[in-house]
Amino acid sequence: MFELNLYLQKKIDQINHALDKTLANESNSGRLIEAMKYSLMAGGKRIRPILCLSAVEAVGGKPEDAIPAACALEMIHTYSLIHDDLPAMDNDNLRRGKPTCHVAFDEATAILAGDALLTLAFQILSSIDCKNKNHALKWLRVTHTIAQTAGYKGLIEGQMRDILSEDVSLGLDDLKQVHTLKTGALINASVCSGAIIGNGTDKQIEQLGIYGENIGLAFQVIDDILNVVGNPTLMGKAAGTDAVRKKSTYPALMGIGESKSFAEKLIHNALHALDYFDNKSDPLRAIASYIIERKM
Ligand code: IPE
Ligand code: IPE
Ligand code: MG
Ligand code: MG
Repeated sequence: MFELNLYLQKKIDQINHALDKTLANESNSGRLIEAMKYSLMAGGKRIRPILCLSAVEAVGGKPEDAIPAACALEMIHTYSLIHDDLPAMDNDNLRRGKPTCHVAFDEATAILAGDALLTLAFQILSSIDCKNKNHALKWLRVTHTIAQTAGYKGLIEGQMRDILSEDVSLGLDDLKQVHTLKTGALINASVCSGAIIGNGTDKQIEQLGIYGENIGLAFQVIDDILNVVGNPTLMGKAAGTDAVRKKSTYPALMGIGESKSFAEKLIHNALHALDYFDNKSDPLRAIASYIIERKM
């Protein structure tokens, strides 16, 4: 029987060790790097880097090959959280159980720490020591995949639409778009970049794309639900804030029960896409179920 908690903890340790090492190698010290470390090392489930490593395993590759991509994905995610919490955006004071970056430091420092983490991610992706042209082309594809989903046609566009959706009630199609862009895109890119790094076949990458798309959207639907019914102490962030800010969310549109059923349907689709794989994709199967059961 596959033990998910043990698996997740091992991966978290591995990722934290790699992130620590990367920041330790950045020789400059001072306020900026301190703020970057503060948010990056504040905890967090590390689900995006874990998905990347698990996708490598699913296609039969070596997960250690994907450590730079795993670090880059977590840096991009952490930058997005730092900016998401700013007064101009969601104006949140608590993240990962600690005061948000702009509260612990100040707004200017938080903006710059976010910018620096985003830039460092691409510095890491472009510093891979490539053995040959095919190896270089593979990493170029990974970098392109991540850049596209983090950028103005992905996460950032999702954040723009999320902000524009305050005080207006979006229809289901528009809400699905916002959630797919702001959260689903980077989660999907995490899975797909792992599949590419592990030298997955086109068909494997396509199937994992379906998996990534479905769990990515489900992840944000559950985030919406937890914002209504979740325990702030467990989550390390406030609850009830979406209603206060009049955000468009799944629970606001269809209620908790239907939102949960929708997330379950998405996870069912994701698991179905994994039928194509053998037991090396067991971690991805278990993570899909964890996404709807999670309490934090
Ligand atoms: C929170 O992401 C923001 C969303 C995109 C829903 P996570 O729930 O992965 O946050 P951490 O990384 O564990 O703090
Ligand atoms: C976060 O969405 C999405 C990104 C940071 C890209 P939310 O604003 O809904 O997430 P939480 O609830 O603050 O973690
Ligand atoms: Mg937000
Ligand atoms: Mg937020």
